[in-house]
Amino acid sequence: MSEIDWKSLPFGYYKTDYNVRAYYKDGKWSELDVHQDEILPLHMAATCLHYGQEAFEGLKAFRGKDGKIRMFRPDENAKRLLLSANGILMQPVPTELFIEACKKVVKLNEKYIPPYGEGASFYLRPLLIGSGAEVGVKPAKEYTFVVFGGPVGPYFKSGFKPVPMQIVKDYDRVAPLGTGLFKVGGNYAASLRASERAHEEGYSTVLFLDAKEHKYIDEAGPANFFAIKGNKYITPDSNSILRSITNMSLQQIAKDMGMEVERRPVAEEELSTFDEIGACGTAAVISPISKIVDRATGHEFAVGNGTEAGPVSTKLYKALRAIQEGEMEDKHGWNVIID
Ligand code: PLP
Ligand code: COI
Repeated sequence: MSEIDWKSLPFGYYKTDYNVRAYYKDGKWSELDVHQDEILPLHMAATCLHYGQEAFEGLKAFRGKDGKIRMFRPDENAKRLLLSANGILMQPVPTELFIEACKKVVKLNEKYIPPYGEGASFYLRPLLIGSGAEVGVKPAKEYTFVVFGGPVGPYFKSGFKPVPMQIVKDYDRVAPLGTGLFKVGGNYAASLRASERAHEEGYSTVLFLDAKEHKYIDEAGPANFFAIKGNKYITPDSNSILRSITNMSLQQIAKDMGMEVERRPVAEEELSTFDEIGACGTAAVISPISKIVDRATGHEFAVGNGTEAGPVSTKLYKALRAIQEGEMEDKHGWNVIID
């Protein structure tokens, strides 16, 4: 596809040729259906439209220098979709069906997988919705599972350059015992007011605090938070954040590099003690953070020189990309090679 300008791709929707779907009805999942149409036929009383029975995933496929296409840890996304489905009483998608669907979308849209070295990747977006009709508040009896994908560039426009983030105390993203552990649409709806305002005020995104005390860092709108302090990789432990697969991978890479990993509550005041801070996720990869401003107090936590990523974040970023693109040994067996 010579007409795609891979280097200037934004992170956004890109129309490709095929998507795949499966349906849960009468107690069983259908075979996968391949579609070219981007439109879903949907009952107007479907529970996803009324009561938020919707969960999604995000994972990437990369073309390596060796020409092979690798999908990063789809088994973990399958597991998390299962957790999300159980969290809002949807019919879970079997892991094999999830992985088969992702593989199929990659294979069918192979011409849209960015070439090696262009700084782009192929982003897969699996989603599960309650498609059965109900009017009373209850789980649907029918579900639709869809996987589509497209080539993407960096989530934050600056790519691997530090960005400013904002702490807010007048909006919460999730409740302490709510749905923060699940990747459900409602969490993102709840984050929109704060994140759009943050954009207008010049920040890349919001860093949400724990909703109970507004004391501890939870996570950024689209990514987990991590910090580097000496030889330690520190990341929040909280029951209201997503279990980021990128974060889990970075923790392992950090350990493999001989670092100590701490998963524990991280108080806002501690921000000033860190050597490097960043956000991590499939879309964000690693996004170094230049400064964090608390909107309520005006307090500014600046970390690093503000223009370049710190040395440890850079090392982690390079190692993660090298594993994903097949240039570093995949010693934990994370990649699924598409053949
Ligand atoms: N936290 C939130 C709220 C997210 O939307 C994402 C993106 O998926 C992440 C964290 C990072 O998770 P992962 O690394 O599995 O993509
Ligand atoms: C991801 O990183 O896959 C996400 O889902 C983050 C965001 C685009 C919602």
